[in-house]
Amino acid sequence: MSASDLLNSIDKSRLPQHVAVIMDGNGRWAKQHGKARVFGHTNGVNSVRQVSEAAAELGIKYLTLYAFSTENWNRPKFEVEALMLLLVDTINKEIATMMKNNISLKAIGNLDGLPSASRKALEKGIEETSNNTGLSMVLALNYSGREEITTMVKKIAIAVKEEKLQLSEINDDLISTSLYTHDIPDPELLIRTSGEHRVSNFLLWQMAYTEFYFTPVMWPDFGKEQFYLAINDYQNRERRFGKTSEQVK
Ligand code: IPE
Ligand code: IPE
Ligand code: MG
Repeated sequence: MSASDLLNSIDKSRLPQHVAVIMDGNGRWAKQHGKARVFGHTNGVNSVRQVSEAAAELGIKYLTLYAFSTENWNRPKFEVEALMLLLVDTINKEIATMMKNNISLKAIGNLDGLPSASRKALEKGIEETSNNTGLSMVLALNYSGREEITTMVKKIAIAVKEEKLQLSEINDDLISTSLYTHDIPDPELLIRTSGEHRVSNFLLWQMAYTEFYFTPVMWPDFGKEQFYLAINDYQNRERRFGKTSEQVK
């Protein structure tokens, strides 16, 4: 099927509101091309542009992109530095495209733990695109699902200790609104590229009922067509939420 056929077969009335992506395989893609890993990261930026544009055009409201995990600090220093520089460079260059596509930039994660140049570029990007009303592009940076949950537990424990909160008030909703993603609905769809089948500490609470889509395509090769394929696949799923197939028909 061509890209336009794939696009036409998407039912615009049944789109996921929130798509989360684990952008994986940059290093292996570079290796396959006889290049250093960083070359894969640089090319991965094109996929970010393509996928965010596709999501914005379709009318999807939130796209969360896993860009740097807390575990990624354990990579060689050179690669970590290159990724942080790439972040600054990409945000500065992409603001114009985000304005054109009415995309607002947001971020989740332990942002205080980022190098100050990266944090500043991020804050500038968020500020400059804050009035855009289309897609929210959420970058997960220095992000860990477990750390997010731990931070939330501490926050709630303090409120209980200070008697600002009753134990009986702790429920799913309170927990959801105490996370980094407090103002973002749970993702209906998770895409992971590069043939890996794991969650890698991403959105652990939020993905309780998310549909998973795995593809062997490496992130730098993932473009609009690949994104339309994932949405088509999602639309062929039956989301039962514990019920029987007959009940949800
Ligand atoms: C994903 O690609 C990008 C980041 C984690 C920052 P990888 O760098 O993990 O690529 P592989 O998995 O080594 O191929
Ligand atoms: C997950 O990819 C993190 C990002 C995409 C930023 P990794 O490549 O770091 O995941 P693991 O460690 O192989 O599971
Ligand atoms: Mg990887």
